[in-house]
Amino acid sequence: MVPVTFASTNQNKFLEVQSILSTFDITVQFAQVSLVEVQSDSLEDIAKEKARSAFSELQRPVMVEDDGLFIDSLNGFPGPYSSFVFSTIGNKGILKLLSGTGQRSALFRSLIAYCDRENASISEGIVKGSISEEITEGGWGYDPIFRPSGTELTFAQLKDKKNEYSHRRRALEKFAHWISSRNG
Ligand code: IMP
Repeated sequence: MVPVTFASTNQNKFLEVQSILSTFDITVQFAQVSLVEVQSDSLEDIAKEKARSAFSELQRPVMVEDDGLFIDSLNGFPGPYSSFVFSTIGNKGILKLLSGTGQRSALFRSLIAYCDRENASISEGIVKGSISEEITEGGWGYDPIFRPSGTELTFAQLKDKKNEYSHRRRALEKFAHWISSRNG
């Protein structure tokens, strides 16, 4: 199959995407480009717009990813603002917002948007879980505080096993089936 281009500024994401898609015999090329990110309440709109802008910049079929961490007791915050919130208050700030709450459930969403003409197609993956009481060591982004359901460990502590649980794995599994059936 023709290699798929993944556009992002995030090398960590690329490494996970590459490792997951290799299990479906899909080769991934990394285009480390900075893309226009529209502000919107909808992750779908952000992902689709990002894919269209990547396509128009690279002039070849391309996939991008947009993610959001949704915390139940904060009514879904930070959701579509996860990137901004991470770079401002970070994991420490999230734990502070949740201090004293017993309700720590959350979910992570990944939207993979693929664009090969004008329109972008979306594959979604969701993992339910909870926010840990402490910041654990390792990982990147919210890995040190997000604990997927089915284990006591955070993404950071799961290390290589993170992909067995992650929102990204789930979205990419759907993407892999979609693109394989499309390419016949
Ligand atoms: P983005 O907009 O897709 O880059 O993701 C929004 C925020 O979620 C960024 O701060 C990312 O670092 C973070 N993020 C996305 N995926 C993961 C993950 O798998 N683990 C930890 N943090 C993540």
